[in-house]
Amino acid sequence: MLPAPPRPFRVVPGGPLTGEITVPGDKSISHRAVMFAGLAVGESRIEGLLEGEDVLATAAAMRAMGVGVERDADGTWRVHGVGVGGLLQPVGALEMGNSGTSTRLLMGLVSSHPITVTLTGDTSLSRRPMARVIEPLARMGADITASPGERLPLMIRGLCPAVPIRYMLPVASAQVKSAVLLAGLNAPGITTVVEPIATRDHSERMLRGFGADVTVEDSADGSVICIRGEAELRPQHIVVPGDPSSAAFWAAAALVVPGSALLIRNVLLNPTRAGLYTALRMMGGDITVENEHAVGGERVGDLRVRHSALTGIEVPPELAPSMIDEYPVLFVAAAFAQGRTIARGAHELRVKESDRIAAMLMALGDAGVSVTEHEDGLTIDGTGGEPLPGGNRVATQLDHRIAMSMAVAGLHAARPIAIDDATPIATSYPAFLDTLGRLGVPPIWLNA
Ligand code: S3P
Repeated sequence: MLPAPPRPFRVVPGGPLTGEITVPGDKSISHRAVMFAGLAVGESRIEGLLEGEDVLATAAAMRAMGVGVERDADGTWRVHGVGVGGLLQPVGALEMGNSGTSTRLLMGLVSSHPITVTLTGDTSLSRRPMARVIEPLARMGADITASPGERLPLMIRGLCPAVPIRYMLPVASAQVKSAVLLAGLNAPGITTVVEPIATRDHSERMLRGFGADVTVEDSADGSVICIRGEAELRPQHIVVPGDPSSAAFWAAAALVVPGSALLIRNVLLNPTRAGLYTALRMMGGDITVENEHAVGGERVGDLRVRHSALTGIEVPPELAPSMIDEYPVLFVAAAFAQGRTIARGAHELRVKESDRIAAMLMALGDAGVSVTEHEDGLTIDGTGGEPLPGGNRVATQLDHRIAMSMAVAGLHAARPIAIDDATPIATSYPAFLDTLGRLGVPPIWLNA
């Protein structure tokens, strides 16, 4: 598939951001909803599914393996599952686009089915490391031939019955944890993952909701997560809450644009995802939660965010797993804080959709911010609330979160900030620029 031509745009600061907004469905939960429903026996319904390119790649892959996936006119998705063990041999390669979550979780599923699948991705995904999933899945019996450097494109031949393993996670990654648990769904006996550092727990919660036998216990080594294989999953009605990683852009924007006050409705509050909000509050951000309630086993609430004088902090490294996708926008908030922010212990940022440490070093540095690179993070000296000098053009490097974070930076800049490509935004948040327009800051499109 040919990549879409780049669509550069510029953000010209407007007034304060005020009013109420909603954000699209959570990306992690959306991927899992489609996959787990595809393995249940019968029809599941999903409301609020994120219709971003990443989740659509998961849906297309499940369809190619025999699952019925349809969208009703009212936006509800209906998934006709084939049962654990029922995935069929797809015809042709599965195109994963930009999506690491689709790739790694589907590798887990395929590993314990008697099928052979080729996975391809865009240039960003084809640079990302797959050894972290290849290693445990090979131990379970999958035969995986990857491109040099253990990257995509790769071919994976599943083994049925697969070998259940006990696996100690060497890297704090929910994708690796989930890949092993999903392979374990169709392996005989108990598959165990030991997680020394907690990562997002949507797979455990949702698999239990679908009727799988999943237990989580504390131990001296960390959480011990066990799944009983050859599971039978029951179809579910899933309501996907708003994505805290998407809400993060608006929270940061409201904090830094003078006079702003935003209510962001229906945001997932799962503690394994809430690190950014903890960090922003430590910086003095005025963020309160209203209307907190439970939806499908997850805490959800509305976030009220008001413009605040932020102060630089040392970001606690132990927050990293619960805010790993939010560092780019945290760096933007830090650029407006009074004093120095030091964020270390986030080495994983090097292997996301782009090298987010290098990408944000360049983007903020070019916008006139004083920023220093570390192997595992950045140190940023903020403006104390003054606008960034701006006037730069950001290299998004096929990374949606770099594009959206720097669009937020452009909301309070002396000279406009240009973003070299809006197209990656559609992977996780197709309506981002529309919402920006509704808040009074329509993007100005530029010639490619
Ligand atoms: C995700 C896990 C995280 C995160 C990604 C989504 C998931 O990746 O960065 O955007 O849905 O499991 P890692 O597992 O590599 O930390």
